Amino acid sequence: MSNAIYSVYGPGPVVFERGEGVRLYDRDGRAWLDFIAGIAVNGFGHAHPKLVAALTEQAGKLWHTSNMFRIPGQERLAERYCELTFADRVFFTNSGSEAIECAIKTARRYHWANGAPDRVTILSFTGSFHGRTMAAINAGGQDKYREGFGPRMPGFITLPFGDHDALKQAVAEADVAAVLIEPVQGEGGVREVPEVCLKGLRQLCDAHGVLLIYDEVQCGAGRTGKIFHHQWVDGAEPDILAAAKGIGGGFPMGMCLATERVASGMVKGVHGSTFGGNPLAMAVGNAVLDILTSDGFLDGVNRVSGTLTQGLESLKGSHPDLVVGITGRGLLRGLKLNRDPMPVRSLATDRGLLVGTAGDNVVRFAPPLIVTDADVREAIGIVDQSLEALAGGASA
Ligand SMILES: Cc1ncc(COP(=O)(O)O)c(C=O)c1O
Repeated sequence: MSNAIYSVYGPGPVVFERGEGVRLYDRDGRAWLDFIAGIAVNGFGHAHPKLVAALTEQAGKLWHTSNMFRIPGQERLAERYCELTFADRVFFTNSGSEAIECAIKTARRYHWANGAPDRVTILSFTGSFHGRTMAAINAGGQDKYREGFGPRMPGFITLPFGDHDALKQAVAEADVAAVLIEPVQGEGGVREVPEVCLKGLRQLCDAHGVLLIYDEVQCGAGRTGKIFHHQWVDGAEPDILAAAKGIGGGFPMGMCLATERVASGMVKGVHGSTFGGNPLAMAVGNAVLDILTSDGFLDGVNRVSGTLTQGLESLKGSHPDLVVGITGRGLLRGLKLNRDPMPVRSLATDRGLLVGTAGDNVVRFAPPLIVTDADVREAIGIVDQSLEALAGGASA
């Protein structure tokens, strides 16, 4: 890799030249089945004709004007997401971290505008990941992302994931502004928050005048079979939601959704972004939503998710010495091992399958939402071979 680039990543040697559907190709034409999709981003695979058309058509007309001017595609996309969700207001960003920043600012500003300026604390959970900006690493539940970046910012408290008593106690404190949670933890190990807990959390927040923020950057945009994951659960709507990744299908965009009441503090001049919601992003964002809401699309995601579940269960059955569990939901899934998942990822890559990892022991699957049963079977076959090779290597 070039020395001209910050060495914060360690990519492997493969260089992709193009993508089509669920496959990526290198310069020599070798193909890989993509079951990580740019980390839960390319929901419609690579070079989807509708997204390419939306982007190229807009590229020939107008790229950027800034939010000094009205952007019709932005108004349309905001209205569409409001129609489809709990939200009444949207702020568009360029990334998930920026959506989280906006969510935190919206929560604090709401309390400030309503006579409770001391309500600033954001409660979050161990294992959570909310991005890499200073606020996002302080909100995140993993110390390693904060190391070397100065003192922990005040106004953020991390609670143990799943510890209801700690949560009940913390949420009752007078300085709490909001609870921030990923309904399905992504980086932390693909851990789904049980539906009953999301409901209980909503009730707890209401009882204490605390806002509820969902981070659906990774689990939203159809990934678990609804436009947003929490829509599976009745009575668990958030006040604020951060989304990104899949909503742009590969074009960098994010958004913060909020109710009218909660967004009321975000008045003219208090927040902004040069690029957020620009015409190029909005052309793609609208095309993404056209596909997501097209007839039967999410039914297809739910159906193929069932095939993936079966496949993962079969791996658990055939490799009981390595696989300890199946986690996640829909097309955001984890195969929990009793060891470091990196060797499985490398063995799968060698065999033509791209997967991710999460936490310290999970192989992560986040394929494009357009995968077929045949793609899933092929992927499971490759993971099976990789686990086989690992077991062979381990006993050698
Ligand atoms: C749940 C969650 N929140 C926030 C982020 C940050 O998004 P971005 O990398 O676009 O800033 C991520 C990225 O992986 C994520 O998974």
